[in-house]
Amino acid sequence: MTTTTPALSQDQLKTLVGQAALQYVVPGEIVGVGTGSTVNKFIDALATIKGQILGAVSSSLASTERLKAIGVPVFDANEVQSLSVYIDGADEIDAKGYMVKGGGAALTREKIVAALAGQFICIADESKLVDALGAFPLPVEVIPMAAAQIQRRFEAMGGQASIRLSGADGQPLVTDNGQHILDVRGLQIREPLAFESTVNQWPGVVTVGVFAHQKASVCLLGTASGVRTLKF
Ligand code: 5RP
Repeated sequence: MTTTTPALSQDQLKTLVGQAALQYVVPGEIVGVGTGSTVNKFIDALATIKGQILGAVSSSLASTERLKAIGVPVFDANEVQSLSVYIDGADEIDAKGYMVKGGGAALTREKIVAALAGQFICIADESKLVDALGAFPLPVEVIPMAAAQIQRRFEAMGGQASIRLSGADGQPLVTDNGQHILDVRGLQIREPLAFESTVNQWPGVVTVGVFAHQKASVCLLGTASGVRTLKF
């Protein structure tokens, strides 16, 4: 009789990489913490070693709440000069470590905390690994009064941009920074570095969800055969 091991669910893969990320947490230091369902697994794992770290800098109100709930002190980003590591998920990651992020609307604070860190450790299940960025609708945080002109700029590039709505009331979702999110479909992001630079300088763009200038240093990828470590 042969026995087969059931495939791990996406949730189980997220748990695996969340736990694997603990090896990058430096004892005695402050760790940068991202946002999302994969990071939530990391925060769960962090609870087991919370006595070994000074605390965390968080990229969202949601992660701050979770960190405080497990007893991890949360520092303001202005209180720290640098972090050794920032640990966060991604919506897409390619073979060079370039990412699309912001599915959880936290992209601006994620980029700010990532910019403090020496290493960006991306934790993701294998569905996030792509040949080219762009299939996932690209999140862009915008100042509301500029939304329509930014939508037109994306249309001129062949994309379709729509304002993200809040599930609760059907009104535009408001980010932790009081701004709106455009989700842009139909783009092929062939040159992530140039694309990020171009969109970032459009008036009214707060942050574009391409993380190329701040790409991953390492990706812990949850796969059917375990955690694969990709280095970039
Ligand atoms: C939030 C993000 C997340 O890292 C990204 O959306 C991945 O989330 P998840 O781990 O839930 O798949 O960028 O703004």
